Amino acid sequence: MYKYFEINGAKKMSGEIIISGAKNSALPLLIATALSNDVVTLEDIPDIKDIKIIASILERMGSKIQIDDNQRTIVVDNKELVYKELVYEDVSKLRASYYFLGVMVGRYSKAKILLPGGCFLGPRPIDLHIKGLEQMGCEIRQTKNGNFDQLEVEAKEGLKGAKIFLDFPSVGATINLMLAAVHAKGTTILENCAKEPEIIDVANLLKTMGAEIKGVGTGEITIKGKKKLHGGIHQVIPDRIEAGTYLMMGSLLADNLIIKNIIPEHIESLIAKLRESGVKMQIGTDTIFIEKSVDNLKPINIKTGVYPSFPTDLQQIMTTYLTQVEGESSIIDTIYPDRFRNCEHLNNMSSNITYGDGKANIKGKSDLKGTEVIATDLRAGASLVFAGALAKGTTKVFDISHILRGYDKIVEKLNAVGVDIKLVEKE
Ligand code: EPU
Repeated sequence: MYKYFEINGAKKMSGEIIISGAKNSALPLLIATALSNDVVTLEDIPDIKDIKIIASILERMGSKIQIDDNQRTIVVDNKELVYKELVYEDVSKLRASYYFLGVMVGRYSKAKILLPGGCFLGPRPIDLHIKGLEQMGCEIRQTKNGNFDQLEVEAKEGLKGAKIFLDFPSVGATINLMLAAVHAKGTTILENCAKEPEIIDVANLLKTMGAEIKGVGTGEITIKGKKKLHGGIHQVIPDRIEAGTYLMMGSLLADNLIIKNIIPEHIESLIAKLRESGVKMQIGTDTIFIEKSVDNLKPINIKTGVYPSFPTDLQQIMTTYLTQVEGESSIIDTIYPDRFRNCEHLNNMSSNITYGDGKANIKGKSDLKGTEVIATDLRAGASLVFAGALAKGTTKVFDISHILRGYDKIVEKLNAVGVDIKLVEKE
C-alpha cells in the first residue's frame, strides 16, 4: 500500500484555516511529561504521526495515555512510569527522540537509546547535546545495536548542574539540556541558547510542573534543579510554520482567506518579507486576513537564521512563492545548507531555479505545470503541495509520509478553503 496526494491546481482559497498546536513544541512537551510521576494534560496537540510514536514509546515505559476524540487533548498519567531502554525501531524513526535523552538522564541518571532518524536535511549532528550532558556529569558511549547506532549514557554520581556554553544556539540542544537540568543537583546555566517560541513553550510547561527556570527567550537560561516535579495543564502554542505555510499559499491564492489561531509576532520575519514583496494583509491579534492576492509582486532576498530571523523551516515554501514573482530572488539557508532538494522537483514543474552551496536563485514568473514529484522531506513536501495548488493540471506528490509527520489534517484544511487536493491510497 502506498499513498500520494493528487492536486488539481489553480483554484482560489476562500474561507478560514485554523492553525493547530506547534509540532516542534508538542514533541518535546509530550516527552517532558515523563519528568514527573503525576498527571499532565496537554491541550491543542496536533494530530500528527510523530505524536503517536512518542505516545507509544511512553506507553512502553508505563504511561497511561488518553487522547480525546478530536485528537486535541492528551492526558498522560505517569504514576506507573519506569525506566526502560529505548532500543527498538520506533525510536530511531523519530528525530525528536533525542529529547528522551535529557528526560531519562534527568530522572534515572542513565539512558540507552537508538540514535534518532527523521527527515533528510543533510547531516544533523547532536554533538552539542552530548557535550552539554558530559559537562553535567554523564559518560556517553556510542555503540552498535544490530544495524542501528545507539547511545549509552550514565551519570554515575547523578546529574550535576553546570555552566554550559553552546557553540551554536541549537533549538534541540537548548531544550534537551533544559529537560535534563530540571532534575540535576544544583544550578545549570545555559549560555548562547536558542530563543525560539517553542523553547519558551517547553519552559512554561516545566514551570507549571514546578521547575525553577529563568531567562527563557534570552541567550542565557538558568535552571535550579529540583528533586520532584508535579503534574499540570498546558496549552501548546500555535504552529508558526504551519501558519507561515498557509500564509504564503494565501498570498498567491486568497479570495477572502482568514487564518486563525496565529501569533503574528512569531512570524514577524515572514510578514516583513511578504510585505516587502507587495502582499497586502490585515493582521489581527490572533488572525491574518487576506482579501485578495495581488499580481505584480516584487522579488526579495531571504537569508535564514536563528529566531527571530527568517526560519529555515519556511524557506522551501518561500521558494515556491518566489516562482510566482517577476524577476530574480534569492534564498540562502545558513542553518541547513543542504535543504534544497525541493528545487529539482519544482524545476520539473517548469520553475527556473538554480541552486547549490546553500543557496537558490529563483527567476520568475513561471507558469507551473502539474507533474509527478517527490516529497524528499517535510517542508520540501509542503513546498510541492503549494506548487501543485498553483499549477495548471494535475500534480501527484509521492512519499507524503514526511508531510503527514508535520501537517495536521492538511487535506481537510485545504479542501475546506477550496484547494482541490486528495489523498489517494493504492495497493
Ligand atoms: N547542530 C549542531 N550540533 C548539534 C545540534 C545542532 O551542529 O548538536 C546544528 C545543526 O546541524 C544545524 C543547526 O545546528 O545546522 C540547527 O540545529 P538545531 O539543533 O537548532 O535544530 P533541531 O533541534 O535539530 C529543530 C526543529 C527543526 C528546525 C530546527 C531549526 C524539532 C523537532 N526540529 O531541529 O524542524 O528546522 O530546529 O529551527 O524541533 C521541521 O519542522 O521541518 C524541522 C526540521
